[in-house]
Amino acid sequence: MLHPYRITDLGGEKNPLYKDPKAPIEERVNDLVARMTLEEKVLQLNQYTLGRNNNVNNMGEEVKKLPAEIGSVIYFDTDAELRNGLQRKAMEESRLGIPVLFGYDVIHGFRTVYPISLGQACSWNPGLVEQACAVAAQEARMSGVDWTFSPMIDVAHDGRWGRVAEGYGEDPYTNGVFCVASVKGYQGDTLADERRVAACLKHYVGYGASEAGRDYVYTEISKQTLWDTYMLPYEMGVKAGAVTLMSAFNDISGVPASANRYTMTEILKDRWKHDGFVVSDWGAVEQLVNQGVASSKKEASLKAFQAGMEMDMMSHGYDKYLADLLKEGKIPEERLNDAVRRVLRVKFRLGLFDNPYTKKSTEEERFLLPSSLEIAGKLAEESVVLLKNEDNVLPLSASAKIAVIGPIGKNKWNLLGSWSGHGRDGDVVSVYEGLEAEFKDKSRLLYAKGCDFEGEDESGFAEAVAVAKQSDVILLCLGEKKTWSGENASRSTLALPQIQEKLAMELQKTGKPIILLLSNGRPLELNRLEPVSKAIVEIWQPGVAGGKPIAGILSGRINPSGKLAITFPYSTGQIPIYYNQRKSGRSHQGFYQDITSKPLYPFGHGLSYTEFEYGAITPSATVVKRGEKLTVEVPVTNVGERDGAETVLWFISDPYSSITRPVKELKFFDKQLIKAGDTKVFRFDVDLERDFGFVDENGKRFLEAGEYYIMVKDRKVKIELVD
Ligand code: GLC
Repeated sequence: MLHPYRITDLGGEKNPLYKDPKAPIEERVNDLVARMTLEEKVLQLNQYTLGRNNNVNNMGEEVKKLPAEIGSVIYFDTDAELRNGLQRKAMEESRLGIPVLFGYDVIHGFRTVYPISLGQACSWNPGLVEQACAVAAQEARMSGVDWTFSPMIDVAHDGRWGRVAEGYGEDPYTNGVFCVASVKGYQGDTLADERRVAACLKHYVGYGASEAGRDYVYTEISKQTLWDTYMLPYEMGVKAGAVTLMSAFNDISGVPASANRYTMTEILKDRWKHDGFVVSDWGAVEQLVNQGVASSKKEASLKAFQAGMEMDMMSHGYDKYLADLLKEGKIPEERLNDAVRRVLRVKFRLGLFDNPYTKKSTEEERFLLPSSLEIAGKLAEESVVLLKNEDNVLPLSASAKIAVIGPIGKNKWNLLGSWSGHGRDGDVVSVYEGLEAEFKDKSRLLYAKGCDFEGEDESGFAEAVAVAKQSDVILLCLGEKKTWSGENASRSTLALPQIQEKLAMELQKTGKPIILLLSNGRPLELNRLEPVSKAIVEIWQPGVAGGKPIAGILSGRINPSGKLAITFPYSTGQIPIYYNQRKSGRSHQGFYQDITSKPLYPFGHGLSYTEFEYGAITPSATVVKRGEKLTVEVPVTNVGERDGAETVLWFISDPYSSITRPVKELKFFDKQLIKAGDTKVFRFDVDLERDFGFVDENGKRFLEAGEYYIMVKDRKVKIELVD
């Protein structure tokens, strides 16, 4: 039971230090913690939800239900009225007036939804992603959300796992770069800026290794793999200043992430000196009982807290048991105070003590601003990957009659993708609408749905075939529903449902060229669709821009520049298959007997409407010593007729080392526009320790003398590192 104090019961102290905006944050934190009761401290370490307020007249009910001293709530509304109602209760009806922290899943846009993260990664444009995250932050903060549970940076090799859609693909460095871009976009330079939100790196750590692509399951991760595959994005994100992390659901080789002292304390706090806090995933504290490391919610709360998790999301474990655990001497008071300090520190940095309320604004002032739509459109455009373009069938000729066929053709809702926040289907431009706007002569467009996303109903095939026969080219728009990826959305195969493939086979009989357009949240199994498609364009789930970018690409107004940030296997049976696998002892054997062992489209694959010719890689030296500088350059010439943006992916390989290493590892990338006929020199400033070095199973970085290769495309240069 909380003390029945009123704010005035501070012994008549009018301006306590913690309320002084001029005082240093650490002093304010310490002053406040010193004043708090045990109950007040415990409540700061809990997050509830504020429910969905569908009726402003009953918002009082929602607010009434919650204690004024609650640390945080998940906020599902799009305006700040309900939030300000609860905030007023916290500021004016509690003893100390500690503001509530409002969090929400702003994953790829709040209302202006841009491409899913897996698509963003294929743009290789972190600057643009930073801008998109800044838009999301502004829309969120102006709507009453101070904290987003994003970026999700779980390296994933298994497309059956639905959450592969939410991260930046299979490569650790790529996830790290886009993590940093997102943190900068969300947090900016000053968290107290009313257009910024606190970021949250998730799901810490190793969630992407979920066995068999199932969700919430065991992950077999050796300490070596933990460090060389999963920890790098988090280290980069913490160094970029991310103020919070979210602990994951998965069991990391016997120690669940949400009770893992090694990751949450020894590494995050002691080694990386993180001074923000860790929130659990939804109910993850209580789930420790199901995972078998705790016999009760009380024991689960103890284990999670001792491991270094500060805030309990929705388990109702900390609020119920932490006070008793402290009184029983099972958790030291100093640790409790440290946890509270970490939460308060983030609230002070966000400026919530000094500006607890969100200013009123209209939806027009907040959402879908022209500048926001422009950024979302640009990112959707740069995320598109041209996978195949046989006989340069694309771009389409100016007069071609186009038959738009397939379940994605006029669909809007599914183009938003999973975790689409407050995105609305009405905001989305469908593929068909994009084409109508692009190809002014409407008579050129024909349409038939052909079939649904799934099921056995082939009754639409005849109409689709008839429409196809009247056209010059078929734009076959296939793909996934938004609910087929994201959380709790694993699929046993990467293949699209049979009905969609059958439609393709029927259309192929018409003899008309098929341009296959794909909108999906994971890599797909295309080995049966590829042979019947003259071109294949991956648009991912592009958000509100929807069909606009692809229309520009089909017309040739836009030159596609995306490249895959995740491998497209030839078959689901190849999983796990990713570019940075370790070397085999017999690389000339060990292949599948029934199918190829190569992916259909490898990491980094993506075509352009122009051609880029790479020159020789020129290192500043071929023999280097530790601590010396090494730069490498490669000239790239646009030998085609049209301007285009090219991304150069710089890999290293270390043929011999004391721990086996992947066949190659991405260490840097750079994207530049190159005008037709021009040459641009791409440069990689190698940090020997960072780029040639490797981490051992304790995360200790080491650098060994020996030979290394720096690789770009099919070129490589040998570098000798001498002691
Ligand atoms: C979910 C997700 C997590 C999300 C959280 C709050 O279970 O795993 O990514 O941020 O709960 O919605």
